[in-house]
Amino acid sequence: VAGRIVVFGATGFTGRLAVDALVARGSKPVLAGRQPDLLKQLSAELSGGELETQAADVERPDTVRALVEEGDVLVSAVGPFNRLGDPALQAAVDAGAHYIDSNGEPLFIQRVFDDWGPRAEAAGCGLLTAFGHDYVSGNLAGALALEDAGEAATKVSVGYSITGSPTRGQAMSGGSVASSAEVIYERSFAYRDGQIVGERPAKRVRSFEGGGKRFFGMSVGASEHYALPRVYPQLRDVDAYIGWAGPALRALQAFSLAGELPGVRRGVVGLSARMIKGSSGGPDAEVRAKTGSLAVAEAEDAEGNVLARAELEGPNGYALTGDLMAWGAAHAAKHGVEGSGALGPVDGFGLRTLEAGCAEVGLKRTA
Ligand SMILES: NC(=O)c1ccc[n+]([C@@H]2O[C@H](COP(=O)([O-])OP(=O)(O)OC[C@H]3O[C@@H](n4cnc5c(N)ncnc54)[C@H](OP(=O)(O)O)[C@@H]3O)[C@@H](O)[C@H]2O)c1
Repeated sequence: VAGRIVVFGATGFTGRLAVDALVARGSKPVLAGRQPDLLKQLSAELSGGELETQAADVERPDTVRALVEEGDVLVSAVGPFNRLGDPALQAAVDAGAHYIDSNGEPLFIQRVFDDWGPRAEAAGCGLLTAFGHDYVSGNLAGALALEDAGEAATKVSVGYSITGSPTRGQAMSGGSVASSAEVIYERSFAYRDGQIVGERPAKRVRSFEGGGKRFFGMSVGASEHYALPRVYPQLRDVDAYIGWAGPALRALQAFSLAGELPGVRRGVVGLSARMIKGSSGGPDAEVRAKTGSLAVAEAEDAEGNVLARAELEGPNGYALTGDLMAWGAAHAAKHGVEGSGALGPVDGFGLRTLEAGCAEVGLKRTA
């Protein structure tokens, strides 16, 4: 019997995209969140009230704990995760439920792998954090490049960018802005010489060729750093870069340095805390349709020779995040996941299954 799928944060921008994608696949997710009236309204709109709803608030962890039982899948889009994410992890681990989220924040990724992973392993459930555009595309691109490169590859670098023509000021959701504000000012990490080490975000900048253009990216702690070395143990170095326009990127880098001043950091986190009272929405379907996503991976040997590359192109990052979480949740509810504990997309589903699932939602290898 397939487990239930519970979407926590169903009335948020990303949660709603995941709900829509699940309903489109024929799943009947439980809609969970802190506003019972809005949840009922959503159920009425999508299913004539047939979809179950359940109230849960991070401020009252027992209500989050009540969402899932063993064998269920908890999908969480309640962020910023660094501040709001732990109760959902606690709920999944306590219940023995699988867990999938839309997180993109380095410190939360680190917490899931280092702290929650062992607890989930003991409980026999799988935790799949950062299961959206960040960082599924880079994990898949990295794995495909490493597979082609073979045993000699000791380093992989992943770069993320967008394709198409973004509409100025409309490309990000309120939740993303709030989470990015936290990311820029938080500590981050990298994978160097065979281990995870602390490193501030945007410490490195480099360019990539991909999607027929050249783009710049700034370094960020991602799930690739934890997940790819488990599948490819010969790896000594892993880097992930988020693309941005050139000059703006340099400014952000300076910003990240300034963030080490405590007063600056407090100001921005305070700002992002104010921004998350109620979803502030995000790009609508028309705006989303104007852009796509791009992930490029390069596998290198110890001398720095590029042995293999992989490029993936897919739909807009938000659409992709909703679709990926829906695919992952439906697959995990029906077939379970491979292994237990904190899992990356590749080890959690297996490379060929992940590749097929991504292709199903339009994320495909182009080079
Ligand atoms: N990895 C990726 O590629 C990717 C893509 C998209 C988004 N994200 C991340 O996903 C997260 C959500 O983004 P978004 O744009 O969807 O933001 P959003 O629309 O503001 O959604 C935030 C959600 O959190 C809920 N929430 C806030 N406080 C809560 C509490 N105390 N208890 C229960 N629920 C609470 C909100 O509930 P209400 O609906 O009741 O306000 C809302 O559903 C962000 O961290 C963002 O960075 C990542």
